[in-house]
Amino acid sequence: MAITTCVFDAYGTLFDVAAAARLAAGEPGRGDLATVWPKLAEDWRAKQLQYTWLRAVMGQHCDFWQVTRDGLDWALEASGLSDPDLRERLLALYWELPAYPEVPAMLAALKAQGLATAILSNGTPEMLAAAVRSAGIGDSLDAVLSVETIGVYKPDARVYGLVGAHFGTTPDQVLFVSSNGWDAAAAAGYGFRVAWANRSGQPIDRLPGQPHHILTDLTTIPALAGA
Ligand code: LAC
Repeated sequence: MAITTCVFDAYGTLFDVAAAARLAAGEPGRGDLATVWPKLAEDWRAKQLQYTWLRAVMGQHCDFWQVTRDGLDWALEASGLSDPDLRERLLALYWELPAYPEVPAMLAALKAQGLATAILSNGTPEMLAAAVRSAGIGDSLDAVLSVETIGVYKPDARVYGLVGAHFGTTPDQVLFVSSNGWDAAAAAGYGFRVAWANRSGQPIDRLPGQPHHILTDLTTIPALAGA
């Protein structure tokens, strides 16, 4: 079946999640972040995601903004940072994460090819709207789908089902793109065609489902979608 629809994970795939800590570290008076920001960014992301999965198992769902704040609080304490102003600055930057450099032209190329495009993300509708607006990619997206409409997180199959419910597609008409190995695995298991953007050169996840394509960035997505 030909691909009609390209669906993207948001954080780490379209939006640079490490940018909040990196940008804050470059601001005046943030010498305390100079050496620790990469660990802070990594811990923040790891805890944010762990809390989505753990809360799912515990039956204690809360939205992605809450787990983002909770993950940051853990990461700040782990790095010995306790400045409330720094916490507020990092959270504010999370609402205006930049897109990776190749993203705007890649999305514009997909639209020029006549493909439908969307985000499918754990983020709340408000977080995603802010990130899309600040990255200036709204005109190249047909839909921004948030798990909050069903109150469960990836990789629950009901999340991937939001795509067909919105676009009327069968799974094999969808190219799903994620930088998260576990998300790519689950989406492939669901039946999507899947491209894993392995930006950080990680080993492949040992999970059911394997991505069909392994990329280092999103530059070749229009060619893959049109093939
Ligand atoms: C998302 C996270 C998983 O955007 O990156 O859904």
